[in-house]
Amino acid sequence: NANPRLAQIMPSLVRHLHAFAREVNLTVAEWTAAVDFINECGKMSSDRRNETQLLCDIFGLESLVDEITSTLLATSTAETPSSILGPFYRHDAPLLANGSSIVQNMTPSVPWYDQAVADSAFLTGRVLASSGMPIKGATVDVWHAAPNGLYEQQDTEQPEMNFRGRFETDAEGGYALYALRPVAYPIPDDGPAGRLLGMLDRHPYRPGHIHFIVSAPGFRSLTTQLYDDRDEYVTNDAVFAVKEELVVKFVPRKDDPKARWSLNYDFVLGRV
Ligand code: DHB
Ligand code: FE
Repeated sequence: NANPRLAQIMPSLVRHLHAFAREVNLTVAEWTAAVDFINECGKMSSDRRNETQLLCDIFGLESLVDEITSTLLATSTAETPSSILGPFYRHDAPLLANGSSIVQNMTPSVPWYDQAVADSAFLTGRVLASSGMPIKGATVDVWHAAPNGLYEQQDTEQPEMNFRGRFETDAEGGYALYALRPVAYPIPDDGPAGRLLGMLDRHPYRPGHIHFIVSAPGFRSLTTQLYDDRDEYVTNDAVFAVKEELVVKFVPRKDDPKARWSLNYDFVLGRV
């Protein structure tokens, strides 16, 4: 067979699809509605928005395949757990020096200035191998939403690449940056996936989170998120991506006019 993996998985997919249709007595009208629905998701998808991915996410499918993949590839239980990439990653975030800020527009004229000051946070930590050895020159690519719940590319009020940055670890494997404590935010719910959530009486909220991709030569790139434990949605994520090890506690920071909170978190990478 030209594609052994396909030959392995397709019979299983067909078996489960048939079993599902039989179990619920799926009618032609219902199947037609489902085809129309999936087509609507496809038509709405673009470089800026992936509605089909969003549809998978509300079923927990992206979280499940992320978990399956990281379990398959992990070489040590010490590795930091992964979490989904989500739809708002952008390549080529600015490369910034350790200790600088990913908050570009912290001025009193922005509507959420007071909240940004109250949530200002200093993030530090190290990137380590599972042996505990610090990894120098690792890249920490970080992004999060604004206090209004919007990522920079969803929001015409924000400067390009706001709340995004890439940092390189120092000789001790350390990274340091200023950011904000993240807020809960609804996944885009103005399309078919959001309509389905509503029909199921489900809410569209994700707990406040900060995204990371941590990478270094010779190590498996880690795509993950940290979740702020102050958030009620930590136990009720619309896309089922929270893991206990990724829930963090920000602590009050003293004597730093630039940050009210601190967070120290080490990322542990597995070998390729
Ligand atoms: C999804 C993930 C995110 O991190 C996010 O900010 C919005 C949506 C998602 O899985 O659909
Ligand atoms: Fe996100």
